[in-house]
Amino acid sequence: AASTEIDLALFGALGDLAQRKLFPALYQLEREGLLDARTRLLGLARQDTDLEGFKAKVEATLTTYVKAEELDRSVLASFLARLDYRRLDFASEEGYAAIHTWRQEGLERPMVVYLAVGASLYGDICAHLQASGSLDASSRVVVEKPIGYDLPSSCRVNDAIGAVFPESSIYRIDHYLGKETVQNLIALRFANPLFGTQWNQNNISHVEITVAEKVGIEGRWGYFDQAGQLRDMVQNHLLQLVCLIAMDPPANLDADAIRDEKVKVLKALKPFTDNMLGRDVVRGQYTAGTIDGKSVPGYLDEEDANTESHTETFVAMKTGVANWRWAGVPFYLRTGKRMPEKLSQIIIHFRQQPHYIFDPDQRDLAANKLVIRLQPEEGMALEVLTKDSGLDKGMRLRRGPLHLDFSSAFPKTRIPDAYERLLLEVMKGRQYLFVRRDEIEHAWHWCDSLIAAWQDRDEAPRRYPAGSWGPVASIAMITQDGRSWYEDY
Ligand code: BG6
Repeated sequence: AASTEIDLALFGALGDLAQRKLFPALYQLEREGLLDARTRLLGLARQDTDLEGFKAKVEATLTTYVKAEELDRSVLASFLARLDYRRLDFASEEGYAAIHTWRQEGLERPMVVYLAVGASLYGDICAHLQASGSLDASSRVVVEKPIGYDLPSSCRVNDAIGAVFPESSIYRIDHYLGKETVQNLIALRFANPLFGTQWNQNNISHVEITVAEKVGIEGRWGYFDQAGQLRDMVQNHLLQLVCLIAMDPPANLDADAIRDEKVKVLKALKPFTDNMLGRDVVRGQYTAGTIDGKSVPGYLDEEDANTESHTETFVAMKTGVANWRWAGVPFYLRTGKRMPEKLSQIIIHFRQQPHYIFDPDQRDLAANKLVIRLQPEEGMALEVLTKDSGLDKGMRLRRGPLHLDFSSAFPKTRIPDAYERLLLEVMKGRQYLFVRRDEIEHAWHWCDSLIAAWQDRDEAPRRYPAGSWGPVASIAMITQDGRSWYEDY
């Protein structure tokens, strides 16, 4: 295995992402014995605190976000012993000398710079790191989404990072790529001949992806209202899922072999035309409603809301991949905030048999479905048809799952959080779970055409009450094709 010996400089170490996700993930790596003994962690933030204050904060965070039974005093002590802290004003060159000094002790190992800060700071930080002499050819940088809000702005951000780091040292995170089941898509498709041979328009009638969230805007109104659900979720997470479902087999598991295939999918996404709006694309915005029996406010009544906003919190669309493998196969995507469940799943609907011999009234049942669930419980189920048991049932059919629930099938394995895997891959210097510049840019190009069409029309999004599955029009969108969203949760 590649070595994990690195030094990690974490910008935004007291911010929300670092506290909620990165420190708990790093702690788990420590617990699993996956952090090299010499690896050090430098926290960088604007707050005026000292190392003791920083350690106390990280300890409190871990106590909050790590399950009590996974919190081990001695692991915690060795983790905290790796920490160092410097106060830094990221935008000003002053202060970066401290990073250079910190590095002098770790020169024999690569430095990973993790930018858990807004993209507007990426350029300055990279330039100052370079000017202070803190970087060398082995340095890597990790950046978070959103990378821009359209193609030109994402090019500017990528140019600024690219002026300092070569592409082979840039790790762009899409945390969906770190999820266990998302990785399993690669194993499922390319390790199982059963699926490998079926994976095309001859055998698959349509693909459905739902990424539903219960949460609303969680105090992020300012960011979210500029973005909306298309930019926040579709441009990155849902399109990455589409890529992994639709891509051709890569020649091997090298980062670029996989990413080359993903880019081909992004290039083949069906472009939007004006007459698709309303019919094949539905934008929604939640109004007040009920989640888990509790009343929640509508989007326009959230804290700091602009009550005139037309930003979407839900989007459903029918799209497709215009190539040899997928011609004529619709991909129905939907994602929204304030839905009844936190549920992410992909359904592959296989075609019916060419000739049907069972009860005519059961015809709708008669197709296999592969359900790939990302969350809450990660697992896969293949729906198959069998004969209904009982003397008086004749040849009635029954639908049932061939089921693989990861936590009950493999009970001893803890399913790691996406960030644990992603951090480990960065430490090992493996890029296949990270997004290459051209992927981001093709994804923006496709989204931008839709956003431009929306802007031209300037229509208010359709309303849906919090706690529902989105605007009625999103159901009509799929029923117009004689299909429905998969409801058997
Ligand atoms: C983030 C979005 O990228 O993904 C959030 O910015 C969203 O709005 C989150 O809530 C969802 O991630 P997960 O892992 O909870 O499905």
